[in-house]
Amino acid sequence: MDVLKDETLELRATEDIVRVRQIARAWAVALGFSLVDQTKIVTAASELARNTLIHGGGGEMRLQALNDGSRRGVKVIFADRGPGIPNIELAMKDGYTTRGGLGLGLSGSKRLVNEFSIESQSGKGTTVSIVRWK
Ligand SMILES: Nc1ncnc2c1ncn2[C@@H]1O[C@H](COP(=O)(O)OP(=O)(O)OP(=O)(O)O)[C@@H](O)[C@H]1O
Ligand SMILES: [Mg+2]
Repeated sequence: MDVLKDETLELRATEDIVRVRQIARAWAVALGFSLVDQTKIVTAASELARNTLIHGGGGEMRLQALNDGSRRGVKVIFADRGPGIPNIELAMKDGYTTRGGLGLGLSGSKRLVNEFSIESQSGKGTTVSIVRWK
């Protein structure tokens, strides 16, 4: 797997979500994704960035352009040093929220991408990674 391009954006305040959406869109366009796929990538990135801010207390978003030999894709990694997710299976359920949200951010994002993974340790933080292939 080659990483062709790499960019990191700090997530500190809700205004950063605008930047997340702009940068995710620009990357998806540059990689040649269809308009529908661009919107999927932007929507997933903005939900996960909101989680990094709201639940994780801030962190970073890292984008990587991938080439696995036959396909190009984009990987987006969200990392924070917040409280962690005690029960990932529960957090992934539609409608599960601890902060009065809709509880659709994680489950909805997962449906918009090809690969989705969460690593989380109590008290240490959370890393969510998504990949969308062309
Ligand atoms: N980065 C994170 N750090 C800690 N907990 C998280 C993180 N991301 C998600 N969670 C937990 O998982 C739950 C579900 O997240 P999800 O994004 O699906 O819903 P939500 O953020 O509560 O509501 P919304 O529908 O507005 O996104 C959250 O309520 C929270 O408890
Ligand atoms: Mg959310």
